[in-house]
Amino acid sequence: MSLFRCPLCASPLTRTDRTYTCPKGHSFDRAREGYVHLLPANQKHAKDPGDDKEMAAARNRFLSGGWYAPLREALCRLALTYAPAGASVLDAGCGEGYYTAGVYAALSETGQVGQMAGVDLSKPSLRWAARREKAVEFAVASVYHLPVADTSVDLLLNCFSPLALDEFRRVLRPGGVYLYVVPAARHLWELKEVLYDGPYLNKEEDIPYEGFSYLEVVPVEAVLELPDRDTIRDLFSMTPYRWKTPKAGAARLEELDHLRVAAAFRVHVFHREPA
Ligand SMILES: C[S@@+](CC[C@H](N)C(=O)[O-])C[C@H]1O[C@@H](n2cnc3c(N)ncnc32)[C@H](O)[C@@H]1O
Ligand SMILES: [Zn+2]
Repeated sequence: MSLFRCPLCASPLTRTDRTYTCPKGHSFDRAREGYVHLLPANQKHAKDPGDDKEMAAARNRFLSGGWYAPLREALCRLALTYAPAGASVLDAGCGEGYYTAGVYAALSETGQVGQMAGVDLSKPSLRWAARREKAVEFAVASVYHLPVADTSVDLLLNCFSPLALDEFRRVLRPGGVYLYVVPAARHLWELKEVLYDGPYLNKEEDIPYEGFSYLEVVPVEAVLELPDRDTIRDLFSMTPYRWKTPKAGAARLEELDHLRVAAAFRVHVFHREPA
């Protein structure tokens, strides 16, 4: 069974080795790595194509190095706390699947996952994700048009990805739980001090999104000792600073062969209220 629905007519999809098909005859090919392309042409946006190949590879190397393991462990703990037995789990904006695969592994050990899926706009990211965990379904799709049925998700994960509130409200069943990871005030502060003359702290705010109520906010913090230029460059390449750093700042970063930097996250844990 697939968690995905046909992006053209919303019927259930049947998965085979090569394709996903719906009863109305719409058919979607699976890539060699196993993910499926469910993004209709009219939902493609040149200005928002998702992470490119280089960013996906940098993120994959950095996360595979275990630098953000404390966040993954926190997400696994929260998933184990809140997922019911046999849960349907969706990672919206899953990237290269580091957290998706971690949460899947934790939940499958206790029988708490029935089916799990990840979606992202970035094909290069999904190539990595699909290789990480074969038991999770992955699709190229936008979080603003999730190819998923209404109220079909028990646990929704969103790590640093766009906040598509209407869709999240639609797909989460009432009583379902939404884990939303955002940067805390001092996240990557020392990196920003190198890049910018006047860096600013991230704002920390708790926002009562309509349809959701807070269960808790879980802070996760670590100090990273990045040991070499490649690791520092990978971290830089997976952040939005890659696009908005003055040349002088980027040059200063290139000079470093070691960086001690704070990683600080906040996991907002929401309960989907009944409609
Ligand atoms: C900062 S990355 C986070 C990826 C992953 N959750 C992680 O924490 O490693 C943001 C991700 O959102 C994806 N993205 C951006 N806009 C999107 C959209 N409209 N729909 C789906 N994914 C999107 C990007 O391709 C990228 O993989
Ligand atoms: Zn269809």
